[in-house]
Amino acid sequence: MKALIAAGGRATRLRPITWTRNKHLIPLGNKPMLWYVIKKITNAGIKEIVINVNPGEVKYMSQAIGDGSEFGAQITYLEQRGGAKGLAHVVANAEEHLKGEPFLFFLGDNIILGSINKFVDRFVNEGLDCMIALSRVKDPHRFGVAEFHPDGTLKRTVEKPKDPPSPFAVTGIYIFDSQFFDAFKNIEPSPRGEYEITDMITWYIRNGKTGHEEITGWWKDTGTPDALIEGNALIMDDMARDEFCVDCKVHEDTELQGLVSIGEGSTVSKDCLIRGPVVIGKNCTITSSYIGPYTAIGDGVTINHTEVEHSIIFDGASIDTTRRIANSLIGTNASLIDYRRSHPKTGHRLIIGDNSIVEL
Ligand code: G1P
Repeated sequence: MKALIAAGGRATRLRPITWTRNKHLIPLGNKPMLWYVIKKITNAGIKEIVINVNPGEVKYMSQAIGDGSEFGAQITYLEQRGGAKGLAHVVANAEEHLKGEPFLFFLGDNIILGSINKFVDRFVNEGLDCMIALSRVKDPHRFGVAEFHPDGTLKRTVEKPKDPPSPFAVTGIYIFDSQFFDAFKNIEPSPRGEYEITDMITWYIRNGKTGHEEITGWWKDTGTPDALIEGNALIMDDMARDEFCVDCKVHEDTELQGLVSIGEGSTVSKDCLIRGPVVIGKNCTITSSYIGPYTAIGDGVTINHTEVEHSIIFDGASIDTTRRIANSLIGTNASLIDYRRSHPKTGHRLIIGDNSIVEL
C-alpha cells in the first residue's frame, strides 16, 4: 500500500504565520507537523509516500522534509494541478502514482495519538474497499459528518452540514481501493465548488464495502492557533522520556523540573526556572526567565526577563519583556520588547503584520 499526504492549501485561519510558511511545516514539539504524519504512516509499514503540495512548493517542501530516507521511506512530491478543487481532486491529481492498488490518504494537518496500524490491518483483513476513521466531536458542523442507518451501519457522509446527523466527524485518515479514480468521474463539485472527499466516501458506502473505526484517543485538525497550541502540548505529552535531553551548559543555580530538552549551543543562565515538558532548540539564550509547561522553543531564540508557557516560539524570535506570555504563537524572527524601555514611556509601539492577533 502507498500513502498520499495532502500538504497544500493556504491555511488562512493561521495567518500571519502561514503568509511565509506552509502550515504543514509549522513546528510542534520542535518538529514540522508533517514529521508526525510521516512517522505514523511508516510505522504502519507503508514506505512509499506521495506528498501533494501547492504549485511552486516542491523544492521548498522537499528541502524541509527530505526524500524519506530519515524514515526508511521514499517520498515523492507532487504539485497540485488544476487549482484548489477539493480533497477528492487532490487524490485524482495523484492517480499516476496511486492507481492499481489501495492507498492511504492522510490530511497532513491531522494530528492523532496512537498508531494507525489497526486501521490499516482492518482494511486488509476484512477485504474492504474503503475505510474511514471517525471521531466524536462537539462541533460536527465544522467537518465531514457520518450519517448512520437505524441499525448502526453507515448511510452516507456529508460535508459540513448545518444540522449534523451525528456527532461523528470524518477525520482526515482514509483508505481507498483503486476504484477511486473511476468513481471520481461520477461525482460533481459541491455548491462550494469542490470535489468533496465525503461524496467519494458516500459513493463507496453505496457501491462497495466501507468500514469505519472510531478514534477514541485524541484527534485534532490543527486549523486554528488554539488547535495548534493544543497539538503542540499533546505531542510533547506523547514524547518518550528518552527524547528529552539537555545537550548544553546550564547554570548551576538554574532549576530544571520535569522533562526538559535543550539543544546544542544553547545557554541557560542563572535565575531561570524551566518546568517541563519543555523543548528548547539549538543556539538559544535564555536568561532570568521562567519557561513553563508545554512550551516549544525553536533554534536561535533569545528570551530574557520573561515568563513563557503553553506556547510555540519559532526560530530566531527574541523576547525581552517583564510580562507573562501564554497560549501564544511567536513567529520566526519576531521581537517582543518591554514598552517601558522605549520613549514615550506610556503606550505601546506595534508593528503588526496582516491578520495578526494581539491581546494587550
Ligand atoms: C476536510 C474534509 C472534512 C474532514 C476534515 C478533517 O475539511 O473536507 O470532511 O472532516 O478535513 O480534518 P477541511 O479541514 O479541509 O475544511
